[in-house]
Amino acid sequence: MSENQFDVIVVGAGPGGYVSAIRAAQLGLKTALVEKRKTLGGTCLNIGCIPSKALLHSTEIFHFLQEKGAEHGIKTGSVKIDVPALMKKKDAVVSNLVKGVGTLVSKKGVTVFNGSGRLNDTHTVEVDGDKKTTLTAKNIILATGSAVIEIPSLKIDGKTIVTSDHAIAFDSVPKKLVVVGGGAIGLELGAVWARLGSDVTIIEFLPRIAPTFDTDISRTAERIFKKQGLKFETGTKVTGLKKQKSKTIVVADKDGTEKQFEADKVLVAVGRRPYTEGLGLEEVGVELDERNRIKTDEYLRTSIKNIYAVGDIIAGPMLAHKAEEEGVAAAEIIAGKPGHVNYDVIPNVIYTDPEIVSAGMGEDEAKEKKIKITIGKFPLSANGRALAMDATEGMVKVIASAENDRVLGVQIIGRNASEFVAGAVAHMEYGGSAEDIARTVHAHPTVSESVKEAALAVDKRALHSL
Ligand code: NAI
Repeated sequence: MSENQFDVIVVGAGPGGYVSAIRAAQLGLKTALVEKRKTLGGTCLNIGCIPSKALLHSTEIFHFLQEKGAEHGIKTGSVKIDVPALMKKKDAVVSNLVKGVGTLVSKKGVTVFNGSGRLNDTHTVEVDGDKKTTLTAKNIILATGSAVIEIPSLKIDGKTIVTSDHAIAFDSVPKKLVVVGGGAIGLELGAVWARLGSDVTIIEFLPRIAPTFDTDISRTAERIFKKQGLKFETGTKVTGLKKQKSKTIVVADKDGTEKQFEADKVLVAVGRRPYTEGLGLEEVGVELDERNRIKTDEYLRTSIKNIYAVGDIIAGPMLAHKAEEEGVAAAEIIAGKPGHVNYDVIPNVIYTDPEIVSAGMGEDEAKEKKIKITIGKFPLSANGRALAMDATEGMVKVIASAENDRVLGVQIIGRNASEFVAGAVAHMEYGGSAEDIARTVHAHPTVSESVKEAALAVDKRALHSL
């Protein structure tokens, strides 16, 4: 095989792309990874999941010390925030991780090409970097991710009207921050700046925030976040902007009435769209669906059978771990193995404090589909570890089939719930029942015992709640 001839070319080095390249190389395939950003890791590692988690962690400590330090006997005087230092720490986390991924990928035997990749034909990718390079391969995996959706009347200028790219890097705390969209980004970055003293208003078009979670879960989350100082305007659609002298006013519509919100910064977080521009899809005949996502079959193949697509550019939730699983599956399928993704059990997390977590089917969805279910709930206020940690806000809900007790879904509001949901997710992956979770020994004292208690509550026999 000549130097630029490969078994697989992966275009895009986010979690979907770099993971599929590693898996392909592990399976003995000669693999190229094409990335236009100078660093690997895509949106998630560079400007998404990782930097936002670094900011969430630092600000959580700051907020806890401010609000609860004295109660815990910690005398710190007046706790202050140093925004440049906070950003430096976040940047160090990102730089450490992206360097690590670069090393990992090359040590696994993947050849990285820096530049924009474009399909020339069904077996050729043209890389436009410092120089032009033409790569050929038997198979191609497209993993170019997504881009921010913009609202035409709120033109992003990167200064006052911003996206998450900018809101992870403000150089000072905005006095008034208006967030458009009460989804994952709006809630996470809204929480970060509110903890640092910003007056944050989150405007959500739908009747409730975090609308993809069960109604009781998102209503509870809203109540908790309001107590933390966040303001919400639900059922309200942002329609445009007004400038009054030097002031920026966000204009919105609630039930036909105009509402106005003054802002120093406006964060637009109304979703992301598949990033498919400039890839040459149309020219080679890769078909898109009605929402501009690349159409794929159950083997992640596009309409061109040797071209695969994974992650945010195809259907399904725009989540890094979903992209990774698809990346692994695509590489395995190319290598002739039975790669597969279980879309029924994909955890979804909003990393606020407490976190909002779901996996599998929610109560609302089950009711909509007329599936007979039984539900067990357990409040974190009845959990000893949560009490010790001052993390009693929230609950665990287990949704099981009324016919055979199989766990269909779990939803949680709780500090670090993304970590302790994993046990329930494993049960669901193996088709486990609520009884299986209830009979699994959970360490005491842990917050994870609440999952066991909620599973017991499915059969009305929780031990530690009334
Ligand atoms: P999102 O889809 O999670 O939430 C956007 C919200 O904006 C929706 O609730 C929608 O109803 C609302 N909205 C739309 N137009 C509006 C308008 N004109 N006025 C008021 N509200 C409006 O999108 P988000 O938060 O921007 O995140 C983008 C993607 O990135 C999502 O797919 C998300 O899953 C992913 N992501 C995941 C994270 C995680 O897993 N923790 C963190 C950050 C992003």
